[in-house]
Amino acid sequence: MKGLILSGGKGTRLRPFTYTGAKQLVPVANKPVLFYAIEDLVEAGIQEIGIVVGDTGVQVREAVGDGTRFGGRVTYIEQDAPRGIAHGIKIAQDYIGGESFVLFLGDNFIRDGIAAQVAAFRAGDINAQIILYQMTDPSSMGVAVLDGANRVVRVVEKPKQFVSPYAVIGIYMFDQHVFEAVNAIRPSPRGELEITDTIQYLIDHGHSVRAHLLDGWWIDTGKMADILEANRLVLDVLNPRNEGDVDGASRMEGRVVLQKGAVVVNSTIRGPAIIGENTRIENAFVGPYTSIYHDCLIRNCEIEHSVVLENSKILDTPARIADSLIGRNVEVTRTGGQTKTLKMMIGDHSQVGIL
Ligand code: TTP
Repeated sequence: MKGLILSGGKGTRLRPFTYTGAKQLVPVANKPVLFYAIEDLVEAGIQEIGIVVGDTGVQVREAVGDGTRFGGRVTYIEQDAPRGIAHGIKIAQDYIGGESFVLFLGDNFIRDGIAAQVAAFRAGDINAQIILYQMTDPSSMGVAVLDGANRVVRVVEKPKQFVSPYAVIGIYMFDQHVFEAVNAIRPSPRGELEITDTIQYLIDHGHSVRAHLLDGWWIDTGKMADILEANRLVLDVLNPRNEGDVDGASRMEGRVVLQKGAVVVNSTIRGPAIIGENTRIENAFVGPYTSIYHDCLIRNCEIEHSVVLENSKILDTPARIADSLIGRNVEVTRTGGQTKTLKMMIGDHSQVGIL
């Protein structure tokens, strides 16, 4: 069996981050979301992994490399434009060959890996398996209707009326019949080859599509609130570790990870929190559910329940920063003027909350 991870796309819901970076490389507890997907595949015994990339392909290649460090072998497949998830399958046909494969959307994130689902698919003598997540309101998702034996009888994209509580998440297993489907379906009104239409095609043409209900949590990290949530969930189970330096005037409370070269001076870190490589925290308070990525400087300020990306500086801020996602190479500083003015250079589609 092979793996196919989709790591292109438009990423409109995560602007402005996706203007300059791949959303699949946004870190959750200081590790890119995409790495969790690769690790899940390798852990399930799948080493041959194709990654579909778009205009952020250079960054993805640079971050992932040839897959050796994950214990896998990665092949990159270029998608000329985000023409839909089923289009990602279509262009991977040569790479997949005649094998079965796991399709993993590169921004999807689950707690317990996929080994159980892969084993069930392999044992099942079925053509496709989808994974479902029970929700009270799945109306913004693709939704599956099942018969009594966990067979999928229908999938409906964003149903206007309630049809079932089972949302289809971004991890699927297919045999080679899926190529029949992706080569036959037509683009939807939004111009994409849809995965929902692909699954419905398989059902309509007599192929067996089975459902697997997920026990643990699932998050689509396509929006800021979801990234903060994924970050919380991972920090909650991280083992404390100190590979950095803490001076005598600082306090580490609860579950704290200091990565290599992290320096904490005269500060309190209240976990769960992670401080990245070569990041310096000085005269600061870092509160629960915060991840500060590598090469940052946090000085004379307070921050909690936030994710800060690499190479950013937060200095001398008068109010506590909370519930925030702060990008790469950002500087947040105090101007020190006489009047209460805010001086800003903020990218398109940014969101700033002011007291
Ligand atoms: P989506 O989150 O459904 O789409 P998107 O990335 O375009 O984002 P948005 O809705 O915010 O505009 O995509 C799911 C995953 O599949 C994500 O990792 C991107 C990837 N993808 C591709 O690689 N190619 C594509 O053509 C599409 C639509 C998505």
